[in-house]
Amino acid sequence: MKILVVHGPNLDRLGRREPGVYGSATLVDIDTRLVNLGGELGVEVTTFQSNWEGALIDRVHLAADEGVRGIVINPGGFTHTSVALRDALLAVALPFVEVHLSNVHAREPFRRRSYFSDVAVGVVCGFGAQSYELGLRGLLGCAALRES
Ligand code: DQA
Repeated sequence: MKILVVHGPNLDRLGRREPGVYGSATLVDIDTRLVNLGGELGVEVTTFQSNWEGALIDRVHLAADEGVRGIVINPGGFTHTSVALRDALLAVALPFVEVHLSNVHAREPFRRRSYFSDVAVGVVCGFGAQSYELGLRGLLGCAALRES
């Protein structure tokens, strides 16, 4: 089974970007852990990062055409702004889990609004790099994925 992990803008800077908020793990560290965890759990994990909204949308569309069965996504700042990326996830009708490294509810008020949470299978935030691993485990256990 194929699972796609999508990282939005500025997450390519992890490790150097506000380490007090986002931790010291780099994107390569996170992706390596997810690919390895996927191997342990018997799924094929592919990862993708872009700073461009349209590239993220194109990648989500491609996922459906490639036979990806579910998505783990950290939309980064687009979490709070992007109707278009939300629409892309609805358009492909793939179950997805929204993840964030930081606890977005314990930060600025504008980070509490997400264009994704109400249509996500679940949301994980505040556990640093571990949020992604918890999100992947949650996605694999969810009924929507088993039935798709
Ligand atoms: C983030 C939280 C967002 O508010 C922020 O814009 C990010 C990262 C997180 O992983 O904690 O870029 O999605």
